Amino acid sequence: MSDDAIAPVANVPTDGTLLFTIRPVDGGEAVEAVVSRRGDDVVAYRNYCKHWTDVRLDTGDGALVRDDELVCQRHGATFTRESGRCTFGPCEGAVLDAVGVEVTDGTVHLNEDGFSFESLGGDDDRDRSSGSRVGFGGT
Ligand code: FES
Repeated sequence: MSDDAIAPVANVPTDGTLLFTIRPVDGGEAVEAVVSRRGDDVVAYRNYCKHWTDVRLDTGDGALVRDDELVCQRHGATFTRESGRCTFGPCEGAVLDAVGVEVTDGTVHLNEDGFSFESLGGDDDRDRSSGSRVGFGGT
């Protein structure tokens, strides 16, 4: 897969989301995003709710997707998968920030100006827990 390849389309869930991380090409802070799929159509958004922007839609196990809507599990806001518009909840009318993706030869690629694909999963810096290290088991 090329550098901007996120994952094979088949690996993108239709009943959830796949979490990935992108980074500005100028070296700025990494940004989490989620991609979801309906058939061969894929959409991606930045991984935060429009109600409280410090709340992630996907904490690593996939966001809840119900009736073709992404659901924020904090206060129940729903966002249409197609457009990212909030149809119910405290941020009704707000729209998730889209991230450009496209499918080529069965693979989802990032197509977002100014950003490059970094990794699948969340932003390690954001998730890092203090003091957890794996040692080599020496005595
Ligand atoms: S933080 Fe998402 S609905 Fe309140």
